[in-house]
Amino acid sequence: MRAQKKVDSEKLASRFRSLFGKEPVLYRAPGRVNNIGEHTDYNDGFVMPMNTAVYTWVAASPRNEPSVRVHSVLFDETFEFSLDAIEPGGASAWVEYAKGVAFILQDQGFELTGADLLIDGEIPLGGGLSSSASLEAVIATALLGCSGLEVDPMKVALMCQRAEHEFAGVPCGIMDQAVICACPEDHAIRLDCRSLEIKPIPLPKELCLLVVDSGVKHQLSDGGYRQRRSECDFAIDLLRKREPGVASYRDVTGPMLAKYETELGELPFRRARHAVSETLRVREAESAIAGGNLEALGKILNASHASLRDDFMVSCDELDFLQQTAVQTSGVYGSRMVGGGFGGCTISLVDPAKLEEVRGLIVAAYAEYSGQEPWSHRVKSAAPAGLA
Ligand code: GLA
Repeated sequence: MRAQKKVDSEKLASRFRSLFGKEPVLYRAPGRVNNIGEHTDYNDGFVMPMNTAVYTWVAASPRNEPSVRVHSVLFDETFEFSLDAIEPGGASAWVEYAKGVAFILQDQGFELTGADLLIDGEIPLGGGLSSSASLEAVIATALLGCSGLEVDPMKVALMCQRAEHEFAGVPCGIMDQAVICACPEDHAIRLDCRSLEIKPIPLPKELCLLVVDSGVKHQLSDGGYRQRRSECDFAIDLLRKREPGVASYRDVTGPMLAKYETELGELPFRRARHAVSETLRVREAESAIAGGNLEALGKILNASHASLRDDFMVSCDELDFLQQTAVQTSGVYGSRMVGGGFGGCTISLVDPAKLEEVRGLIVAAYAEYSGQEPWSHRVKSAAPAGLA
């Protein structure tokens, strides 16, 4: 079985010492797994994500000059930028995250001192577990830590989201940054993306999720994500005009939406149907989890996948193969693609007693299908971004 990359904290610290000649403090931010509520965050909807124990790490130390020196182990690149003159563009994508976060923190009035940062990570890049939000969150935490500042986690999340919008060019919702910064360990959260209210959801012991990476890398800045967002905006604008009392998709019912099928046109109608049905599924999933009903939860995951594939059209053959293989495997309650889509991972809800058997079967089937053994990971709850 393909081994999971693990960052060795001792080695990271010693690499930092040899690069920068001083002692670092270590920070880390987890990856994000979304149980349910996909493409609902930017639609003022509900989501139910949690964190998992794969991390982006930063070793950090303040420096006297007002600049940030940053090295990435993964990309084997170093970059330096002055805190006084940060502008988007001109650097490798991973550096843009560091610059973006530093810029937005300062723009929101936080006085940063200079810092030396060494970054390493365990989360598959572009794999649907939000490696980018994890990177933003750990950089924000490290820069604030170096500057002796403590900031409310949700505020940090909002600043990271701005960095993603303004420096990475992805018009993402708030789900990933919110969960990575603010979800308590051993819980998922039900996040109301309109009010930003967080409800911690204790996880039943038997809830066992298996992540399998299709290996298809997505680039959410490519345009498909932005296009889905604007199709959703188009549809809800029309519904607001026609239906008094509709502010967002949570106020729209299936029969109400059906009246506008022709007027909306096929694609906006389908996108809206996903937003409406997925909003309902978050509510249903919450009851299923509260009642410990894994069969019901599994069906909800399958329905979510079908909607993401057929109505939202953000799946791909590889994800569909993984999902289909999982649901045909005994010991799996349900499965779906996770994250923004166009590649990345699936999550499958598995009977914990059968986890290794199920994992072996799915991994073998996918290796035969794609010619490559996929990365897989059992979700394990993790603390939010902070000191390691
Ligand atoms: C990406 C975005 C999130 C969310 C998901 C889809 O992960 O960053 O804001 O929209 O896609 O649910």
